[in-house]
Amino acid sequence: MAEVIVFESPEAAASHVAALLADQIENDPATVLGLATGSTPGRVYEGLARLVRDRSIAVDAVSGFALDEYVGLEPGHPESYRAVIDREVVRPLGLDPDRIHLPPVADGGSPESCRVFEDRIARAGGVDVQILGIGTDGHIGFNEPGSSLGSRTRLKTLTARTRRDNARFFASEDEVPVHCVTQGIGTILEARHLVLLAFGEAKAAAVAAAVEGPLSASVPGSAIQLHPRVTVVLDDAAAAELRHREYYDFAWANRPR
Ligand code: GLP
Repeated sequence: MAEVIVFESPEAAASHVAALLADQIENDPATVLGLATGSTPGRVYEGLARLVRDRSIAVDAVSGFALDEYVGLEPGHPESYRAVIDREVVRPLGLDPDRIHLPPVADGGSPESCRVFEDRIARAGGVDVQILGIGTDGHIGFNEPGSSLGSRTRLKTLTARTRRDNARFFASEDEVPVHCVTQGIGTILEARHLVLLAFGEAKAAAVAAAVEGPLSASVPGSAIQLHPRVTVVLDDAAAAELRHREYYDFAWANRPR
């Protein structure tokens, strides 16, 4: 079962994950991070950057693989995930940009370039900690409902709902790309530790379906139930529809130390 930890605020939740990542990098300076974008992990990266500075944690050997990237934005577009990762992760943390990889979109996400990306993850030794957000439709990465639970990195078409949700980053919904390249669910499940974050009431239904609902390609986030090491970090609002909330709180309060 996933470990589900509910905090009273997104800030408290993000500090917990930032500390977890700082400890991971301190213990293993060659940590391979799985990087999520979207608005949810922003505070985590800010907190981690502070800890890296305050604790003088060496990050020059850290590498990272982003979960997904839009297809069709001009290079350097501020909302391309490459630009977002550079702005929110690489620069604040002082990571080596050559060690940070995004799913290949330059050639439209050809099967061959997707294979090269997957090989690169394997050659890096696999992802140690995969940070995940979740879409209101239950997607992880950009694996929309219906994605095979065994899928690998590939070209995908975004749902209308995801394009609507992400329109806030663009001038209009029409500017949100239709296609993306995303790590597959099978790819994500190979990371050694999954940390899924969700904040706010808009995520409550997707979180409940992913954590407690039946395992189904219709809710790609439910694939976390297949993984032996998952930490789900929520604020109160995102936890509102969990049936076993009381138990999660009890288990966290009584965690073996
Ligand atoms: C986005 C990203 C996902 C992210 C999710 C939630 O579209 N591709 O990787 O986890 O949808 O986004 P947010 O954190 O902004 O709610």
